[in-house]
Parts: sequence; C-alpha cells; structure tokens
Amino acid sequence: MTTTPELRQAVGTAHTRVEGRDKVTGAARYAADHPFTELAHGWLVLSTVGRGRIRAVDTGPVLAMPGVLTVLHHGNAPRIRGDFVTMLGVPPEPTSVLFQHDRVPHAGWPVALVVAETPEQAREAAEALVVHYDEEPPDLDFRADRGDARPVDGHLPAVAEKGDLEAELAASAVVVDAEYTTPEEHHHPMEPHAAAARWEDGRLEVLDSNQGSTWVVSVLAQMFSLDPGAVRVRSEHVGGGFGSKGVRAHQVAAAMAATVLRRPVRVVMTRRQMFSLAGHRSPTVQRVRLGADAEGRLRALEHRCLNPTSTVQDFVEPGAAPARVMYDAAAHHTANLVVALNRPTPTWMRAPGEAPGSFALESALDELAEQCGLDPIELRARNEPTHGPVSGLPFSGRNLLACFREGARRFGWAERDPRPGRRRDGRWLLGTGTAAASFPAGAGPSTAAVTAEADGTFTVRIGAADIGTGARTAITLVAADALRTTPERVRVRIGDSDFGPAMIAGGSTGTRSWAWAVRAAAAELRERLVPGATIPPQGITARSDTTEAVGALAAAERHSFGAQFAEVAVDTATGEVRVRRMLGIFAAGRIVNPLTARSQFLGGMVWGISMALHEEAVRDPSSGVPVGADLAGYHVATHADVPLLEADWIDDPDPDDPVGIKGIGEVGIVGAAAAVANAVWHATGVRHRDLPIRPDRVL
Ligand code: MOS
Repeated sequence: MTTTPELRQAVGTAHTRVEGRDKVTGAARYAADHPFTELAHGWLVLSTVGRGRIRAVDTGPVLAMPGVLTVLHHGNAPRIRGDFVTMLGVPPEPTSVLFQHDRVPHAGWPVALVVAETPEQAREAAEALVVHYDEEPPDLDFRADRGDARPVDGHLPAVAEKGDLEAELAASAVVVDAEYTTPEEHHHPMEPHAAAARWEDGRLEVLDSNQGSTWVVSVLAQMFSLDPGAVRVRSEHVGGGFGSKGVRAHQVAAAMAATVLRRPVRVVMTRRQMFSLAGHRSPTVQRVRLGADAEGRLRALEHRCLNPTSTVQDFVEPGAAPARVMYDAAAHHTANLVVALNRPTPTWMRAPGEAPGSFALESALDELAEQCGLDPIELRARNEPTHGPVSGLPFSGRNLLACFREGARRFGWAERDPRPGRRRDGRWLLGTGTAAASFPAGAGPSTAAVTAEADGTFTVRIGAADIGTGARTAITLVAADALRTTPERVRVRIGDSDFGPAMIAGGSTGTRSWAWAVRAAAAELRERLVPGATIPPQGITARSDTTEAVGALAAAERHSFGAQFAEVAVDTATGEVRVRRMLGIFAAGRIVNPLTARSQFLGGMVWGISMALHEEAVRDPSSGVPVGADLAGYHVATHADVPLLEADWIDDPDPDDPVGIKGIGEVGIVGAAAAVANAVWHATGVRHRDLPIRPDRVL
C-alpha cells in the first residue's frame, strides 16, 4: 500500500520553520524594523541611585539639545493607571507604570524618557540629563535568616504541609539537611525589547516584541483608560522571550510619548537597561531536609525557598513547587517565601520555580542516594508516587521512570562506578550525574479563525506568539491535519491582537492552547464546507473559542517529565568544570514538530549548563546597580561550553488533549543544573550547593 504525501500526518513529522526563509533573508520584520514617517525615538533614563526621591529633573539644558522633542518624567507625564490585575492575574510590572511619582525604589528605576528626532540625539540627551535625588540607603541584604521573610502566594499557595515533619525526621534512618543557593539570573533574548507606538484612525497601534499581543492590549488599555478595541498590538516576529517579554517600560513609554507628541515613537531597551527593566530570575536560598528509611523511602520532605522581591511588588520564585509533584512522604512541608529589598522586581524566567527548585531538590536526592548507598535512579524509583503528593490527584500521565530507563540505557549508566573521584582522564576527574525534570502542562482559553480560501488554500488567524520556538510552524502542522490537507496549503497568521484573545507564549502552554483552538475552528469549518461547492472570493471562515472546553478539563496532576544525564570533567588544578556530554529524555506529550521540539529541549539543557557553571548577575552591594551588565560581563554558555548534547523523548500523548500535547517550553532546563552538579560531585567527591560552580569554588 502506498501513502500519498497528502495523506501523511503532519503532526509528528519534522518540518523546517515556515517563516525560516523570511528570517534568513531579512524579509521578516522585528518590532524595531518597521519604518514610519515622522518616527521619533525615545530613550529611557534610569535611576543611578538605589533608593530615594527625585528632587528635580533638569530638563532645560537637554531640551535645547539638537533634535530633542520632549522629556517626560514624573512632573509632567500624563496620569496612567497601575492599580489593576492583568489577564494573567498579576498587577502590571512596576517599572512599566511610568513616571507616576517621585519615589525611587531601586537602582535602574525609570525616571525619564527623552524623545528626539533620531536615536542618537535621544541617547546623547538622555545621557546628558541631570536628575537630582534625595538619596536613602538601600536595603540589599539578602540572607537566609532575614527576620522579615514571609510566605507569599504566587500562582500557587505559599505553604503546603501535611504530617509531623520533626517526628518523621527523628524516626528516619538517613537524613539530609542542606542549604542551596542560586544567584540572580537574566533572560536576554537576542532581540532586545522594542516597541513603536502610533495613533492611527483613533486607535493606538503598537508594533512590539512580546509573548502575547492580547495580553499587551489588555494592559495598555487599562493603563491608558482606553477601550480594548481602541488598541491594536502586533508582534509578528519575536527574537526570544523566555518570560521577559510581557508589558514593560518600553511599550508604555512609546505609547505615552506617541500620545503626548501625536506622532509615532519607538523605544528600544539597551542591553544594559535590560538588566534593570526586563525582569530577571531572583536569587534563591533554599533549605531541603529529607528523611528516609534505610531502604531510601522518604518519610520526611521539607523544601523552603526564599527569594528577594522588590519593595513595590511581591514576586515569588516558587522553588518549593516541584517537590509537591515529584516525591511523596508522610511528612511533606513546602514553603515559598519572599523578602522585600531595594532591587528590581523579578519575573518569570524559563521554568520559574522549577529551574532553581529542581537544582536544590534533585541535588538533595542525590545526597540522599549517596547516604543510602543507593543508585540515584533506584532511589527515585522507590519514591515514585501514585498520586500528587500534595493534591492527592491522579497524574494525567507520569512517565518519569520510563525516561530514566531510556536515558540510562542510552547514556550507559549501568557501567557507572557509584564511588566518587574514581575516574580520571589525564588531569581531569570524570563524573556522571542525573536528575529528574518536571514542569506543569496546562492550557489556556484561546480563540481562532480558519478560512477556506477560494484558491483551495487555508488561512489560520490566531493571536499566538512565536518567540523563536517554532510555534507558527507547529500551528501549521496541527491545522494541516485538522483540515485534512498538507502544511503547504495552510498559511498561519499570528501576532496580532485583532485576531482575538489567545493564550500567551508562556508557562509551556502556548502550542497546546493554540492547537486546541485551531483544531476546533478547523473542525467547524470542515462541517461547513460542502464538497464540490464553490468557495466565494472572501472565503468561508469558521471561528472557535475554547474557554468552555479548557475550563472543563478534569482536575489532575498534569506535567511534563524528564530525566537529565550529564558527564563532566573537572580540573582540580584550575577549578575548571567542562561538561563533556549530556542527554535528556522527556515525556512531554505528543511532539508536534520533532525538529523544533528538539531545539527547545536542547536550548533548555544548554541553559542548564549555563546555570550550573556560568550565570551569575552581580550588583554593587552599596547601590544595587548591576555590575558588568552586558553579555561580556554576564557569562552564558557559548559553543565551546556546549559539547555533545542529545535530547529525545518517549511516546507520551496527553489523554485529555485533542492533539495529545502537553508542553515542552520549559521542562528542558529543569533538573539540568542538578545533573551537572551531581556529576561534579561524582567526579570530585565534593558537593557544590551554590551556583554557579565557578573555578574558585571548585578549588
Ligand atoms: Mo515562560 S518563563 O512562562 O515565558
């Protein structure tokens, strides 16, 4: 039997990016690429002091500089609102509520916007602008024993407790009690944050680089007290997001200046400004206590995670979250706490909570395995829960052990000598390590429209965002199958709020949420298409809204899982750690496009290497000003740091998703740093509980 190409299933088949040609030829336009006549350029001015009040802004000399059009600051800016909750259930980012008061809660707080005819003029004037402050000493003291640490509910309850922790610890044959720290880390997409705003036919139009245009509309409309229909946000191509591309100072600055000047204004963040304005992953101090019987079965599990937030908004980095999913114990206590300091507000950064939390938890599991004399995979197998340890809900699917089995086989885990410090290659000590990964798999309501065109092709319109993940291509494949056609006959248009509300590209929910809506619209369209009938010139369009369907999802523990394996070489004379190879095996639902999915996983694993060995933002301890705030001073893994990397997956379709999708965006980084750190222990016999594992820490 032969299969014609028309009948081949698109989902599950590798497909290059549908917009790839546009991207490599320069035809794809990013936010700052769109030309406008009369375009003016805004440059943000950030506070150099760590705390205080603005006494005066010397606008006079700057307004006399060439090309300068205006200087906006708290003394003259239009009033905007910041006292609302966005569609994601959080208040707007504090640095985006521009110029509404004279207080400076942290270094890098936006204090003015200089607008000029050219970017060079705006920059020169911004750098010349003198701002006078009444300075106060900032509180930057992040310590585990802060008396003012407090539990804060984020999207999860701060505290979850069952059982008598101290009693179970006392009754345990083996106890691990350790503190782990992770530093401040930054997401720096290749394309910096940029937006151009203009008023056009009574509507505010913003060309942007974001993770969800309807989200940006909802925030801008509320801030500027506009009808949502009077705001249009477009974000066709996005050069990376990782959680940083929500509504931030640049869109608001562009919209505010465009409103004041009545002409288009573009604002681009500099790489340096991104260290203060783009959000970041907050540092954490985490304490993990594990108690187990002699066979390694957990009796007690405690995970407390403390992170600093700003003084103007509580942001929780829920590092204790993965423990609530991964392992059960008679006494199970988890808590996420924050302390308010004069630092910028952190934000979601790829696998918020899970990335730093898994470093602590999966390191502690490795320490427990060592103490129990058990193989780390066997230890995890003995602690595999049947239900959510905290929720009691069944897992919609949990193939963690299958990931470990497949990973162990391919990595050659069986040949591992469990004793540390035994393998050598010249001056290098060699070791291997493993860790588990998990990340929630969810879906959000979305709308979509699918049009059957008169020429026999189809157009999909959905307010999705492709932040470099390949989402546009994934949607194309899903639509092709749903329409019983080939990907070549499907054109997918995304990144326009006028296409209707849609889930953001975030929380690993984008592709699943959009696929659901696209399939629903495609199914509706197929019912309406009469075989043989002529399609009118305007086409036939069907629409969907998955609010009800997504809301009806039965309660369950829904997560993607994975097993990470790493081999490292450690030079004990220089303290250098090199990752030699890494393997990740994931159970992450049905994989829509193996080509781009593999890249997603690998990208996460590379970030895990980076997190384990390189990344660490440093702030001046007296002011909080970021030090070395560029990609030379902030070390990230580069090609030479990334060796043989492999990512693969096992068959794991989600039974409750129409396409079987779970979500792959974030799970790739989870556990990756722990796998590297566990391998460093195995190489050297020394446990590293503070990231990054810098040479000076290894020596
Ligand atoms: Mo992700 S940190 O939800 O963009």
